[in-house]
Amino acid sequence: MVKESTTLRRGAGEALALEARGLWAGYDGQPALEDVTFSIETGCLAGLVGPNGSGKSTLLRVILGLHRPWRGDTRVFGSSGRPDRRRLGYTPQSEQVDWSFPVTVLDVVLMGRYSRLGPLRRPTKVDREIARHALESVRLADLADRRIGELSGGQQRRALVARALAQEADLLLLDEPLSGLDATAQHDLIALFEGLRQEGKTLLVATHDLSCVAADFDHAILLNRNVVAFGRPSDVFTEELLNATFQRHLLLVRLQDRTYVGHG
Ligand SMILES: Nc1ncnc2c1ncn2[C@@H]1O[C@H](COP(=O)(O)OP(=O)(O)OP(=O)(O)O)[C@@H](O)[C@H]1O
Ligand SMILES: [Mg+2]
Repeated sequence: MVKESTTLRRGAGEALALEARGLWAGYDGQPALEDVTFSIETGCLAGLVGPNGSGKSTLLRVILGLHRPWRGDTRVFGSSGRPDRRRLGYTPQSEQVDWSFPVTVLDVVLMGRYSRLGPLRRPTKVDREIARHALESVRLADLADRRIGELSGGQQRRALVARALAQEADLLLLDEPLSGLDATAQHDLIALFEGLRQEGKTLLVATHDLSCVAADFDHAILLNRNVVAFGRPSDVFTEELLNATFQRHLLLVRLQDRTYVGHG
């Protein structure tokens, strides 16, 4: 099995945004992550790819400190232990969110500011401006005052991304933000990711969209409870490694005269 290098890198000498070392985690004694080790340098746009149940959401939740690993550890910008939530933005998988909560779209995005507010502080005008700007970035500004439950699935996903943006975090962990988006919204979101990367942010994005990762991401982590491979998409999206990752859930994806084997 090829492992490109131990670190996903954009340029030599940059600090590591994220490290996972020998991570084991699971539920009720059943492992979901087995000895997961990788690291991502600051300023990378990395895709986390694997079939349903391969541990992508679990890995993101372990990094966030929402799920305790059995063994191993993670470091965010060099610090182990409970991560500084002001430096970490998170978009949960849409299916895990209760959308019936009676709040507006703007309220949801403002929640991204709470990690920066003290316990007694209410959102200020500046917080509201940042939240509105985040909504503009995902083209939802005109829906700011609508109830979140009234939005379409794709709009709700974009609202979650806006909430993570409003945190102004340096490392963004996004769980399937691209699923269910139409081609235009997907294109806009990827352009947004590229803009964030240019600002020096680091993004780890769980996705089933291999074509997007192949075309636009710096790196890919192939996960199936353990790390099957990681490195540049052009190096790790080989038939052998994708077969090892996706096993029987296979689909052929054609992109720019190349064929990728992927998840259906
Ligand atoms: N709360 C939970 N309780 C028990 N088992 C869980 C829980 N959450 C996840 N699992 C199990 O852990 C394994 C990994 O699940 P996880 O949600 O991390 O996968 P995933 O790669 O995010 O999948 P998907 O592509 O469907 O989102 C699966 O076998 C799943 O059934
Ligand atoms: Mg998931």
